[in-house]
Amino acid sequence: MSLKRKVAIVTGGNSGIGKAIALELAAQGANIVIDYVVHPEATEDEEKQIRAMGDQAIGVQADVSKVEDLQLLIDKAVEAFGRVDIMVNNAGVETRTSTLDTTEAQYDKVMNINLKSAFFGTQLAAKQMIKQGGGGRIINITSVHEDWPMPGNTAYCLSKGGMRMLTRTAGLELASQNILVVGVGPGAVETPINVSTMQDPVAMQKLKEAIPLGRMAKSKEIASVVAFLAGDGASYMTATTVFADGGLMHSSPGL
Ligand code: BGC
Repeated sequence: MSLKRKVAIVTGGNSGIGKAIALELAAQGANIVIDYVVHPEATEDEEKQIRAMGDQAIGVQADVSKVEDLQLLIDKAVEAFGRVDIMVNNAGVETRTSTLDTTEAQYDKVMNINLKSAFFGTQLAAKQMIKQGGGGRIINITSVHEDWPMPGNTAYCLSKGGMRMLTRTAGLELASQNILVVGVGPGAVETPINVSTMQDPVAMQKLKEAIPLGRMAKSKEIASVVAFLAGDGASYMTATTVFADGGLMHSSPGL
């Protein structure tokens, strides 16, 4: 129970990797603020699962692409639990469109939900952590595509590349306050964002061949890395990204 009584906010916390992170942090003893936009019933169900573990949880409906909603999220966390120790900027979307195809609306959506939310989520959480004192952890869920191009998914790659530099730059700026900023870069994970791939046997075959471990990750395998980074064992890690990708970024046919 290394996170006993810590308070964690997880954006996009009621599905996919976000849900797994919320449950894993709760399993380590943290009280959880689940941010979500749709599916209040899924959030309620998750709150019950967390309470059954002996922790507290609240759901907050907030669109993290808007700064005022992010502030509401922080305010609700402080109102319910008195502080914020761990901020997980997880909410993310992709359009799977190329440089030539991407519309202005698609570009704005991806950049606002993925990057703008992480930037202001970091800013507002850090302000709260400074106010309360004692440091904190900010964990940005990026992707292998913070560094590795994905042709046909350009805006997504841009947003994740931006999160990479947010992690590094804010990590340096906030180090003196003992607020550690780290990224977690998953590869292909069995989540709603990847349903189109999971339903396409040809794409699945290609993916499995490209991943040295030969399979997609379960969300829990990403959440366990986040829990480690939120805990005492990661007290000397900041301004960097940990990749959990089954070797994907470094796969090579040996040519
Ligand atoms: C993307 C997926 C992609 C995976 C591996 C993830 O970040 O969301 O679309 O399949 O990376 O390339």
